[in-house]
This record gives sequence, structure tokens and C-alpha cells, in this order.
Amino acid sequence: MNLLTRNRPTARPWPTRKQPSYRSPLIYLTLLFSLLFFFSYFFSLTPNSLLSNKTSISDSPKCPSLGGGKFLWYAPHSGFSNQLSEFKNAVLMAAILNRTLVVPPVLDHHAVALGSCPKFRVLSANEIRISVWDHIVELIRSGRYVSMADIVDVSSLVSSSLVRVIDFRVFISLWCNVNEDFACYNELDKHASLLERLKQCGSLLSGLNGDVKCLYAVNEDCRTTVWTYQSGNLDGALDSFQPDEQLKKKKKISYVRKRRDVYNTLGPGSEAESATVLAFGSLFTLPYKRSELYIDIHDAPRDQGIKTLIEKIEFLPFAPEILSAGKKFAYGTIKTPFLCAQLRLLDGQFKNHWKATFLKFKQTVDALMQGPLPIHIFVMTDLPKNNWTGSYLGELVRDSRQFKLFFLKERDELIIQTAKRIVDAGHGLKFGTVPKKHDGTGQIEKDCPPGLPDVLLYIEQTVCSCASLGFVGTAGSTIADIIESMRKFGACSS
Ligand SMILES: *[C@@H]1O[C@H](CO)[C@@H](O)[C@H](O)[C@H]1NC(C)=O
Ligand SMILES: *[C@@H]1O[C@H](CO)[C@@H](O)[C@H](O)[C@H]1NC(C)=O
Ligand SMILES: *[C@@H]1O[C@H](CO)[C@@H](O)[C@H](O)[C@H]1NC(C)=O
Repeated sequence: MNLLTRNRPTARPWPTRKQPSYRSPLIYLTLLFSLLFFFSYFFSLTPNSLLSNKTSISDSPKCPSLGGGKFLWYAPHSGFSNQLSEFKNAVLMAAILNRTLVVPPVLDHHAVALGSCPKFRVLSANEIRISVWDHIVELIRSGRYVSMADIVDVSSLVSSSLVRVIDFRVFISLWCNVNEDFACYNELDKHASLLERLKQCGSLLSGLNGDVKCLYAVNEDCRTTVWTYQSGNLDGALDSFQPDEQLKKKKKISYVRKRRDVYNTLGPGSEAESATVLAFGSLFTLPYKRSELYIDIHDAPRDQGIKTLIEKIEFLPFAPEILSAGKKFAYGTIKTPFLCAQLRLLDGQFKNHWKATFLKFKQTVDALMQGPLPIHIFVMTDLPKNNWTGSYLGELVRDSRQFKLFFLKERDELIIQTAKRIVDAGHGLKFGTVPKKHDGTGQIEKDCPPGLPDVLLYIEQTVCSCASLGFVGTAGSTIADIIESMRKFGACSS
């Protein structure tokens, strides 16, 4: 049962260190799996004739049932913006390696955290794959499963044939050979054997056991590798950013990070190539000290298809349901031109930057005071309304002659209705048909009412993309980055 314990979402942004209370179930899990791993390793050393049938997990997935296809899986984590950037990297990797991308769900905010790449203190690829698996089973169990492809519109990517995708649920129903009520989310608890099957399956997909032909687990991570593609003869070269001497002395860190061409390492001719599933750990990267933490692919000089794809994934729009909800609020409720303020005040590092955040906001508002009054402002913030008093937001609320404030709440009808429409549309499930014995999709569309996904953030971002008086965001917030890019690409006018 511990496998299914939900990791408590923490309010910490990547890449800070996790709380000890968060860590303890993980350590337990890790121990458990290390033990499992140890045993499977032990057995693999003993003569096959004695033990080969004992070590294989009963009902282990049969790779051939996946119709000869090749797939790519990875472990998304942290907040939505990070998950989205990982998703884009996954699309890129899948295209380069000519594999079908298994599209994951959106994970709860910080339900899974990686750690800190610059400090070389991260979960191993196996650990993060296990955490992600456990959290996904929890999402299914609690009826909150929503696919990344439900939220982000990938239809143009797919129709351009630049990449092939399959929904995680469709994939897993084949891979785990789960053909009973998989999607009947709230029924899952009643089927102990089904849960058991999923658990076994998870350890396989996480690369803890099983054979390489079936699944190749990429264990390289940001401590050892920066993935490149067609970047000249740098394959195998040391990355420019190495752990410095101080870090080495203090923390005994001696990692050596190399730049490696992902196609040469995991593509044709490699050991990984023949595996049905290639499973990465985190695919998160970030520019850091004139290098990239994990993936440094910004061009593909000799591959026009990948070049096009890189341009295309720079901006992936939200699903039409989300866009139309955001526009409805902007044009139907706020109506007049407005300013959007995105104020991240509580989460992690942002707690210490209230002054700077509010100063920038106030300066923007002051500049608008020259124009017609009142100024309409849409506010998206993690600071609860009750706490606005005493801050600049409180001042604005009090001065209702000069300012008219708008905001959205989780329980608003618009948010709930949009969540329902997202569930009904089920965009994610439209992707991925593979030759199969039983019809997995048919099972998934069974009539079991799921819970509602949390779509507030995406709608808020869309409203902000429509703010014609301007946008003021929180410095360093990835949410602000997404809004800026939506505004740049004219998401509101499309
Ligand atoms: C393993 O099981 C298969 C069938 O389930 C059988 O044909 C084979 O002989 C077994 N191998 C050993 C080493 O027991
Ligand atoms: C990519 O994979 C597809 C499907 O497996 C296959 O038909 C195609 O030939 C592959 N392309 C290349 C360039 O290997
Ligand atoms: C918000 O207000 C509540 C009481 O209404 C208080 O307990 C809490 O500490 C406040 N939070 C912040 C960040 O000011």
C-alpha cells in the first residue's frame, strides 16, 4: 500500500531541497526497491536453469503485444511550467530517436521534486521514475487524472507527423495487460489484483528489473550528462560547467559531466535502440552559467524535420476549451482594456521578494494613471484574498474609484465548467492506437465519472495573454514566462 501513498505537495520550487518529512516515505520506497533490485541482481547471477522462471514477475508485460512499436517514456516533475518544458524536451527526444512518445498526465504541483542540478543533488533516474509512477497511480485512483495533451494542444504536432504520441493510459493498458475497468477510476480500490499488477508494472517501467530488450532505462542524469544533437565533434567532451573545487571538498562531489549526442548514444546501433521502451528520468533543463543543465539542443543543422520541430515546440497553445474560457472572462466579464498582474508571493524563493514584486507592479499601475480611470486590473496570485490587506493589493481594493480588480477562484462556475469540458473532450485519449489484442481505449471510455482537473492556472494565464493594457509578472516565475510567450505568439487573438 505504501506504493500508493501520495507524496505531500510541498510549496517549494525546483530546485530547492526537499523537506525531511517529504523524504521519509521515499527513503522507505527506495530501500524497498533497492532490496528488490538486489534480489533480481542476485538471481541473475545464479544459473538460469534454476531460477529464471522465478525471477520473472508473474504476468510481466509481453513486449510483442505492443505491435513492434518503439516508445519513449520519461519522468515529469515539479510545477506545471516545468512539466510543460519537460514535455517539449520529450517531444524533441522522441522525434530524434524516432520513438512514439508516451504522453504523461499533469502531475500535482510539486508532488514530485527532482532536487538541484547545479548542486548535483538530485533523485536518480530510477528514483524519480518510481515517484512519478506512484503519483500517477494516485491520480488514477483519486479520479484526478488529466493528460498533458488534454491541457496543451498537440494536434498540430501530431498532424504534421513530426512526432508520434500515445496516451499513457492506452499505453499502460497494453504494457501492463490491464484490460479490466482501468478507467473506472473509483473502482480501482476494489480490485486489489489490478493494483498489484500496476505496481509490478511500475517497477518494470521504472527500470528496476526486466530485460533490456523490453525496456532500456536511461540512468544518465544532469550530474553526468548534457545531451546534444548534431553539435559537431563535441560528443563525449567535458561540459564546461563542472562541480567546482569548493563543492567537491565540502560535499565530496566528484561528478564529471560530459556532453553526449543523444542520437549516437541511444539511437540506431546502440544497445538502447532495440528496446521497446526507452525510459528517461527527468527531462528538465535550464540554462545555467553559460551551459545547459541537461539538454542542450537548440538546433539541428543536418536534420530539417527536427529543425522545424524545435521551432514548433517553442510555443504550444492551450487546449481550445481553456483558450475560450480565458477569452470569455477577458471579453465578457472584464470587457474593457485591462492590465494583468501575476504576483507569485508565497511559493519558495518568492516569499522573500515581495518588495520588488509589488514595486514593479506599482510602477506599472502609476504609469497607467495618466490614462482613463478606473484602471481595470486582473490579478492572479497565490496570496489568498484575506491576506491582501496591508499590501499594495489592499490599497488597490480600497480605492474602488480609481481601480477595478478582477480575479478568478477555483470554485468559480467558469472554472468548473471548463474542467468538465476538458474531461468531456478527452483530447489526450484521441492519441495512440497501436495494434493490440483487446481494445484498450474502449475500456477507458467506460462510464465512470472522474474528478475534475484543476484548470484555474491555465485559464488565468490565458486571461493575462489578453490583457491589452499590459502585463506585469513576477521576476523569475516560470508562469510569467509562459504568459510572456503566449502574448508574443498572440494566443489570445488566435
Ligand atoms: C520456464 O517456464 C516455461 C513455460 O512457462 C518452460 O517452458 C521452461 O522450461 C521454464 N524454464 C525453466 C528453466 O524452468
Ligand atoms: C521511424 O519509425 C517508423 C515506425 O516505427 C518507421 O516506419 C520509420 O521507417 C522509421 N524512420 C526511420 C528514419 O527510421
Ligand atoms: C494570511 O492570513 C492568515 C489569517 O487570516 C494568517 O494566519 C496567515 O499567516 C496569513 N498569511 C500570510 C502569508 O500573510
